[in-house]
Amino acid sequence: MSGRASSPVLVGRDEQMAALNAAFASVRQGGPSAMLLGGEAGVGKSRLVSEFGRRATSAGARVLTGGCLELGTDGLPFAPFTAVLRDLVHEMGADAVAAMLPGRTTRGLARLLPELGEPDTGGDPAEARARLFEEVLGALDQLTRHSPVVLVIEDAHWADRSSRDLLTFLIGNQRALAGLLIVVTFRSDELHRTHPLRPLLASLDRITWVERIELPRLTRHDTGELAIRILGREPASELADALYHRSEGNPLFVEALLCRDGELSAELPESLRDLLLDSVRRLPEDTQEVLRVASAGGEATGHALLGAVSGLDDAALTRAVRPAVIANVLHPRGDGYAFRHELIREAVHEDLLPGEHGRLHSRFAEAIDADHALVPPGRAAVEMAHHWHAAHDSTWALIGAWRAAAQAGRAVAAAERLALLARVLELWDQVPDAAERIGADHVQVLEEATSAAHDAGEFERGIALATSALKELDPAAEPVRVARLLGSRAHFRVRLGRPDYATDLEQALDYVPAEVSPATRAEILLALAHCPPKITNERSYAEEALALARQAGDEASEASALLTLAMYNAYAGQQAPSGSGPLELIAQARAMGERGDADDVLPRAAVDESHLLEGAGEHELAAEAARRGTVGLDAERLFRTWGSLLAINQAEPLFALGRWDEAVQTISGAADLYLAPSPMHRAMLHVIAGSIALARGDLAAAAQDMLTARGALRSARYEDQYQLPLVRLEILVALAKDGPAAALAAASRNMDRYDLSGSTPRYAWPVVAGGAIAVLAAAGQAGVAHDDQLRRDALALAGRLGTVAGKLGTFGPAQRAWQLTFAAADAHAGALLTAAPAAGLPGGAAGQPGEAAGLAAGWDGVAGWDGVAAAWAGLSEPYPQAQALLYAAEAALARGDRDGAAGRLRRAAPLAAGPGARPLGEQIAILARRAGIRLDGDAPAGGRPAAGAGDGEFGLTERELEVLRLVAAGRSNREIAAELFISPKTASVHVSNILGKLGVASRGEAAARAHALRLFGPVTQ
Ligand SMILES: Nc1ncnc2c1ncn2[C@@H]1O[C@H](COP(=O)(O)OP(=O)(O)O)[C@@H](O)[C@H]1O
Ligand SMILES: [Mg+2]
Repeated sequence: MSGRASSPVLVGRDEQMAALNAAFASVRQGGPSAMLLGGEAGVGKSRLVSEFGRRATSAGARVLTGGCLELGTDGLPFAPFTAVLRDLVHEMGADAVAAMLPGRTTRGLARLLPELGEPDTGGDPAEARARLFEEVLGALDQLTRHSPVVLVIEDAHWADRSSRDLLTFLIGNQRALAGLLIVVTFRSDELHRTHPLRPLLASLDRITWVERIELPRLTRHDTGELAIRILGREPASELADALYHRSEGNPLFVEALLCRDGELSAELPESLRDLLLDSVRRLPEDTQEVLRVASAGGEATGHALLGAVSGLDDAALTRAVRPAVIANVLHPRGDGYAFRHELIREAVHEDLLPGEHGRLHSRFAEAIDADHALVPPGRAAVEMAHHWHAAHDSTWALIGAWRAAAQAGRAVAAAERLALLARVLELWDQVPDAAERIGADHVQVLEEATSAAHDAGEFERGIALATSALKELDPAAEPVRVARLLGSRAHFRVRLGRPDYATDLEQALDYVPAEVSPATRAEILLALAHCPPKITNERSYAEEALALARQAGDEASEASALLTLAMYNAYAGQQAPSGSGPLELIAQARAMGERGDADDVLPRAAVDESHLLEGAGEHELAAEAARRGTVGLDAERLFRTWGSLLAINQAEPLFALGRWDEAVQTISGAADLYLAPSPMHRAMLHVIAGSIALARGDLAAAAQDMLTARGALRSARYEDQYQLPLVRLEILVALAKDGPAAALAAASRNMDRYDLSGSTPRYAWPVVAGGAIAVLAAAGQAGVAHDDQLRRDALALAGRLGTVAGKLGTFGPAQRAWQLTFAAADAHAGALLTAAPAAGLPGGAAGQPGEAAGLAAGWDGVAGWDGVAAAWAGLSEPYPQAQALLYAAEAALARGDRDGAAGRLRRAAPLAAGPGARPLGEQIAILARRAGIRLDGDAPAGGRPAAGAGDGEFGLTERELEVLRLVAAGRSNREIAAELFISPKTASVHVSNILGKLGVASRGEAAARAHALRLFGPVTQ
């Protein structure tokens, strides 16, 4: 058996934990409450309840737990209560327990526990029972006087009659007991129709304080999380996939299937198999026989098929199946049956004898062969192939697999088709006349498999298959086949981010001049033309392809060529506004795609369109174009090949628009598929998710996303559209996490690595602007902290950024907004850096704070940042707009314009709040507070008394409170003046007023008083 480990932490279950907490809270307030928690075996009932018990214990509750035993109905009456009582006696001593009871007699309870004395045997049994019940109630009542009590009765599906009665009695009388929460767990999957717990649950359900919750299996996400917790690291994504598939989210099964080495165990562990087979073995023999047959039928088996294979007529089959349905082993599904859990099916199937196994599968294959209608339409070939294979009949397995792969074509999922073809290849040597049997040679099978690998997104496999096929072919004899295989192999390499794809394509182009095969040549030309990133000088490829496609009347190729040309025409700026030439070309291509059934034209058009619109800052249209691309695309292909790209192109504009919840949803939707095969796409999804996390203040998540993205890109080919957004995120994460110096370092490190001035402006600008924000932050801090090194580093980076910015082109309004942001941050930083060393501290003249900051010296910060804010407003991007308004407000304050600052901050606050940009919202609030600006009202809080801590008791105004906070932090009048944008003289007036109101003689006493009254939390910079 595999070493089973479990997760040290509870995964998921927030909702159920909240329900338990709410019940506990209501009990603490004196209300009655009982929770009935159902769920299948292993789903985590005990774990949830024990976790809750732990929390309740540390909240001061006494938790009493008793489990029911699987002993048949009347083995041990009151088993769970006996267990509870024994623990209690153990803990408190028999005397203390006796002392709790009315009349101090334990004769009733002694029936449960001999330690308590002479049991109450004689007399009327009904009366004795009543006394016992009263004594239990009395004991609980006493206990709840000391602390709240949580009584947990586990596995009530096994409860004996007496326990069920006592439980009903207790819950029914709960109103008499303040402070008792009763939690009952049971396996809902065991509750067949005549189970004695059913009527009990039904009657309890009618009581208003009883709540029933069903614990579901874990989601795909939580199953992955559980695997991480068990293994202590992230499992490979295929493993996570397979684990979810096999366990179906049942935590016990997850644990059982996961070996310590991080692999899936191929065999079911013995103990798990016993658990799974337990319910099966209790069924009548002829029912078990039908279950064995059904276990060979796959996930679900039709009624008629089951009858045909088991040789039972309709009535006999129904009779045999019924007990399995009642016992909840089989579920009716469609016109047949499925096992309640796939692992039960596996366990039954593994239990088959070897001969029985082969015989059953052959019978399935023969039955289906005789009557295709026994399986759903279109499935016969695949099903037969499966059963012949399982029956180990090589010849028929090979023929079946080939037929299934070929005949079903598109109807079969790509991954399945690939698996079938792989099986043909695998069996090839075992079947001497394989080629004649299927009418195709080995290379043909390889070619088919290569194309299936493409559709299935299995690019590594695809490279291996194409390479094998190429070895068997002579280019001189079969130039077209060779060229197509080379084309496929290049495509796989592109998708995997490998650098070495172009050679295959160039070679392929040599094999197929136009007179040999115009269609193939056009295909190769388009592939070459589509090769990112430096394609500007290869335009002729696309034009030749377009001409060939038109000559041949091949609309699919023509559409593809048009898309390629559209991207060329927009190449320099990587952007195109709606209605522009490139988008016209895309529209033409899309029209062709809608007419024909060329595979990839529509999704590709959607990707290109959304990309160009997003580049032009038309976010709404971009998001819509990407979303439209996902509609009508069949799921399999969407997820394997286009889903991740379309998700990126949808999430990006949603992020820009401040619709972050939707963006996160789109991203997690894509991530949940686990299928995004391209490391670049995966990286990009993490970059967007990380940017949102960062802006929302979840630094840990942002840093994690950043690392994941970096890991994914490590082996990938350089493309600025993937690498540069990550660079920007790195700078911003460094800034938020480790401060300006770290951000400067991150920026210059990346500038050493990448040639920004040679990069596409669309991706370079956000990096340059991000760098300038880091410089600005550094300039501010260098001034305050008199940090000359930081100042020099900031100047150095500013210089480098300026050089890059001078060389970058600017295309469209979005790039213009980035450029303006850069320019404003750069000028703002310049003003700070070239000012007196005391920059950032107040100047001398009273009423003119900030003059010495030098902002008046040439650059108009307010106008500069207002321009930036307007640019972002024009693009409907609330987040950068709010950021710019904050800077503008700062600049306004620095020149003493408090009203100007107030207006800007009030506009910024809701813009930041909308998408949930908490840190930015806090910065806005802090600046407002420092400047004495109320964000919600209109008048600045001049002399009005404030609500809050100081109000009433001392009559401090809001302003005075703010000053007191700084006094308490040990600031001098000068520093207070700087912080609050007032003159030192005003500050000193405030301080004397405060001393007077508090009735203290010195600043030190005022500080001590403030601390003693806990008026403030820690003061931050
Ligand atoms: N939410 C969870 N997080 C982590 N581990 C879990 C979770 N739910 C269940 N497990 C683990 O799965 C196993 C089965 O859970 P258990 O609570 O015993 O199931 P049940 O009581 O429903 O039969 C246990 O080892 C438990 O620790
Ligand atoms: Mg349990």
